[in-house]
Amino acid sequence: MTMQIWPSMLAADFARLADEAALVAETADWLHIDVMDGHFVPNLTIGLPVVAALHKHAALPLDCHLMISDPDRWAPDYAAAGARNVTIHAEAASAPVRTLRAIKSAGARAGLALNPGTAVDPYADLLPEIDLLLVMTVEPGFGGQPFLDLVLPKVRRARELIARHGGEVWLQVDGGVTEDTIGRCAEAGADVFVAGTAVFGAAEPAAAVEHLRAAAEAAGRSRIGDSAG
Ligand code: DX5
Ligand code: ZN
Repeated sequence: MTMQIWPSMLAADFARLADEAALVAETADWLHIDVMDGHFVPNLTIGLPVVAALHKHAALPLDCHLMISDPDRWAPDYAAAGARNVTIHAEAASAPVRTLRAIKSAGARAGLALNPGTAVDPYADLLPEIDLLLVMTVEPGFGGQPFLDLVLPKVRRARELIARHGGEVWLQVDGGVTEDTIGRCAEAGADVFVAGTAVFGAAEPAAAVEHLRAAAEAAGRSRIGDSAG
């Protein structure tokens, strides 16, 4: 299983987004952009114009994590703005199948996110519709929160459901991912790791990405029954 590290721009200097993105361009896989509307989560960040602007200057593909109340209305526009993946929250979407298909029609990969209190089993039937499943490892809204170990059984369950489904669905974790916690996520079956503070809070963000990747790969190799290594 290939382990991917996606730095979260939420922890970067918002006045220097392109420069911050360039810091990790050689070592990271994608960039994670947290779009918050002040309604679905109690925080307000960036929207379409900033995503479109960063798309012009960033070398890595952009992943937009929509923490907004009306993803059905806005998600395809993020794909049109240049996002390579657009993730909507299960708790916010009114018509997830239609919206996931609209994201793909607009040219992006489609992701579905689950809050810590949202079970994964009710969404198993949606796996054929998605390219990425995001299991939140903090309550969404803010960077720098402590990792919630209580979510790990759901990461394991999600990996089982993806294996049973048989398609290629990336399993992403987001929130409190650090060199200390990333191994537990990888061992549970995650393969895409969002890290904000652990990357941009580090003295050397590019090296921090490499350290996170090494820790994830070491834990992934020890996964029981993972013949792919
Ligand atoms: C939280 C966001 C995360 C956040 C993670 O709602 O979805 O992407 O940036 O930040 P850290 O890695 O600092 O927990
Ligand atoms: Zn996020």
